[in-house]
Amino acid sequence: MKITRRKVLKGGAALSLGALSPYSVATTDKVLVGFTPVPFADGKGKMPVISSDYEYQVLLSWGEPLEPGGPGYRWPAVAEAQQQQIGIGHDGMAYYSLAPGRGLLAINHEYGTNPHVIGTREPKSLDQVRASQSAHGMSVVEIAEKDGVWSQQRSEYARRVHVNSPVEFSGPVAGDQLLANPANNPYLGTISNCSNGRTPWGTYLTCEENFNLYFGSTGAFSPSESQQRYGFNDSGGGYGWHLFDPRFDLSNRDYLNEGNRFGWVMEVDPMNPKALPVKRTALGRFKHEGATVVEADDGRVIVYMGDDSRFEFIYRFVSEKPWRQMRDEGRNPLDYGTLYVAKFLDSGVGEWLALDVDRPEFVGRFDTQAELLVNARIAATLVGATPMDRPEWIADGANGFMYCALTNNDRRKVPNAPNPQAPNPYGHIIRFRDNGGQRFIWEIFMQASGYFDGENSFSCPDGLWADPDGRLFIETDGDQRDGLNDQLIVVDTHSGEMRRLLTGVPGCETTGITTTPDRRTLFVNIQHPGKGDPAVTNFPHPVDGVTIPRDCTLAIRRKDGGLVGS
Ligand code: FEO
Ligand code: CA
Ligand code: CA
Ligand code: CA
Repeated sequence: MKITRRKVLKGGAALSLGALSPYSVATTDKVLVGFTPVPFADGKGKMPVISSDYEYQVLLSWGEPLEPGGPGYRWPAVAEAQQQQIGIGHDGMAYYSLAPGRGLLAINHEYGTNPHVIGTREPKSLDQVRASQSAHGMSVVEIAEKDGVWSQQRSEYARRVHVNSPVEFSGPVAGDQLLANPANNPYLGTISNCSNGRTPWGTYLTCEENFNLYFGSTGAFSPSESQQRYGFNDSGGGYGWHLFDPRFDLSNRDYLNEGNRFGWVMEVDPMNPKALPVKRTALGRFKHEGATVVEADDGRVIVYMGDDSRFEFIYRFVSEKPWRQMRDEGRNPLDYGTLYVAKFLDSGVGEWLALDVDRPEFVGRFDTQAELLVNARIAATLVGATPMDRPEWIADGANGFMYCALTNNDRRKVPNAPNPQAPNPYGHIIRFRDNGGQRFIWEIFMQASGYFDGENSFSCPDGLWADPDGRLFIETDGDQRDGLNDQLIVVDTHSGEMRRLLTGVPGCETTGITTTPDRRTLFVNIQHPGKGDPAVTNFPHPVDGVTIPRDCTLAIRRKDGGLVGS
């Protein structure tokens, strides 16, 4: 089905953009999105459905060995084996080519509930807590393709980073007292690894989102202003780690600042398994969805980041100098630069506000840049950033546009220009362009709730990826209409043509997206199938009503070997 450009741009910003106008969206006669779509009526079953022009293969199910020959899947999870197995909660990922048809997948393991991972709601021992912790984090695995079929390989690069893996900090907060605990415990681990990024120098960025949910308290705890802003409370998300692991006990004064060690973007070098992961604190602490890295015309890197909570913000970091020069100087481009937050003006323009401790708004509030970065949300509010409807992924699109998924906000009572629906149960996508400058232009690209015409319904956009030809891939998370499973949609951003490539299984979200350099294989994740309940789905196992469903990656190819999305 074709949607008109007028419908694509429905609502919000005007198209007359003054000095910065016009948007120059190149039009093309080429059919970018021509595959046979999955009919709406077919996408409600217990197994994924893919376009009849495509096929998929299941890879990297939770609990499989990291490399052939490693400890195999068993349930419930056991810590020591789980540290040598694929984690759970597959989310952001990126493919790194080693040779044609061979590469590394770096993949996030955002979360898995206790009943799914350890078979009990509340952990009863430290061993069970360690098993849960070991299923979180991220993996690097090597895969190779032969005759269109991918398989896992033995690999010197295979690696797990989990909640008890050594990590380090860099940037303005490194070494600060705000990261120190009276227990003097080492820096360990990463949690709630949601979306991702990749740098032009070949590393992987894994982004810590709902870190507060892993903390709780065994005793009296009253959250500070800072802790409140990040949602810390007595019971967290119900993981119960704090019952046996004092690092996660908010009432344990020996681990006073453990919570400040999470909520960062962490850089991992997939090609160097011996190098410690590094949390890059200059990028600020918030509930990071992803970190999309773009090279500006002058060679600096810009990192676009969403903070996925209701009424939180969109940020960007700009490196101090061109990234090649900084690396030649022995400096990491993500350690030196400026963090900004977005203020949208009604006129279809916006401004990036620098979060610099010298601003007058911060006098008497933050003494150091480190303190500001640990409390980036509070800083962003103080400068008047625009509260958004849950910013999720940001994609680097054709023509310099960045596309940002605003997944939903059922609590919005007062609309603003970039979030025009109140409430906003189905979400929308905005796009903006700044060319590295302080000002940007923006417009609403799609209002998801406007798309219930039967075939083309989608809600709650989350994962986004744009290819260089102008296709936008949209992955959804939750509340599709009329029982439709979460799905993957492809839109031609030039013409508005929009088709459903894949539907997942009940209870899952579709997330994580990356391709091989030739764009002949697309990797997509099925996260929390059936929410772990075998009565809902058994995927990737065939339907039997018994087998526990497992998060996994789909390797998707066109049957004719063509470009994915076409
Ligand atoms: Fe992990 Fe906002 O999704
Ligand atoms: Ca998720
Ligand atoms: Ca997400
Ligand atoms: Ca989501």
